[in-house]
Amino acid sequence: MSERRALPNEEINLWAYRLESKSPQEVLQWAVQRFGPDITLASSFGAEDVVLIDMLQKLAPQTPIFYLDTNKYFPETYETRDRLQERYGVSFIQVLPKLTLAEQAELHGENLWEKNPNLCCQIRKVEPLAGILSHFDAWITGIRREQAPTRAQAKKLEWDEKFHLVKCNPLAAWTHEQVWSYIRENELPYNPLHDQHFPSIGCSVCTRPVKPGEDPRAGRWSGFDKTECGLHK
Ligand code: ADX
Repeated sequence: MSERRALPNEEINLWAYRLESKSPQEVLQWAVQRFGPDITLASSFGAEDVVLIDMLQKLAPQTPIFYLDTNKYFPETYETRDRLQERYGVSFIQVLPKLTLAEQAELHGENLWEKNPNLCCQIRKVEPLAGILSHFDAWITGIRREQAPTRAQAKKLEWDEKFHLVKCNPLAAWTHEQVWSYIRENELPYNPLHDQHFPSIGCSVCTRPVKPGEDPRAGRWSGFDKTECGLHK
């Protein structure tokens, strides 16, 4: 792995400290000024991503936005993508896995996600992510600390040890309520599955609605000892 390091550790830590008290818009503003064309936003068109897309369109509409298209998203997710593209007049970068679903089935068997969701996520999300991130010095994500114990320590700016670039999480300190207030106030399009008990939305084959009282991420890879797909941990 290359030791590409757009910012030295001391600078990342200093800015993480300074940005901690800043709003998501201020964090984004700093990041797009600091990294210019070398920063990108990762979106799967969930509630947080819709917020970040709107903020970026207002601050720096030229920032590239990509989505990892596993070919297995819900039709509602693709429709949300289309509504956002229409609203802002932008085109999101589609990042596809090396293997088509048919090729994956031939190599690893039908419905790999049922037998080995980790390998499926590796092929359809993690490897394509590593590919696109190799063209950038920094990436922006929608992760929030309250989403999961694995995300509780996320900083607004940090070094991504896994993908070897700077990671910016402007919504790290926001609550679920803050995200939804922003969506309502700005009348943003959002994935209608959120209204049908899907707080967290991944591939259709690995996401189910959650029951009252369940953890918001309980619908992801339900039945497996798995809470992350490998993008963030
Ligand atoms: S996941 O790792 O479990 O799938 P989650 O759905 O919570 O992640 O989304 C957290 C953040 O990861 C999103 O806000 C987005 O920045 C990024 N992300 C997740 N899935 C994708 C995807 N398919 N394409 C691009 N970014 C994604």
